Amino acid sequence: MLHIDRCVCVDCTFAEMRSLAERKKLDFKGISRETNCGMGCGLCVPYIKVMLRTGQTVFDEMLTEADVDREIRDAASEAGGRRSRAQGGESSRHRSAGSAEGSA
Ligand code: FES
Repeated sequence: MLHIDRCVCVDCTFAEMRSLAERKKLDFKGISRETNCGMGCGLCVPYIKVMLRTGQTVFDEMLTEADVDREIRDAASEAGGRRSRAQGGESSRHRSAGSAEGSA
């Protein structure tokens, strides 16, 4: 079983990075600048990005940048769906089209 908990190039754990990020209000670039994590082989980059979004600091599966991009797209899509449902189920694109038709 995998146990991925750190940037192996710098030997800095995701828990240490999370603590640093919380203390200094750092984003990915800030963590990378302060620790050099992500500046070596880059394998830790998707884990750091997930850690920043979710707080997770130990992983049992391999992650790639594509996994993270897909997860972010899915979350944005889900949030858009929730927003759309909260507004009566009509998407903003649909409303815009309706407005344009109404003003023509
Ligand atoms: S594991 Fe972080 S740069 Fe290589």
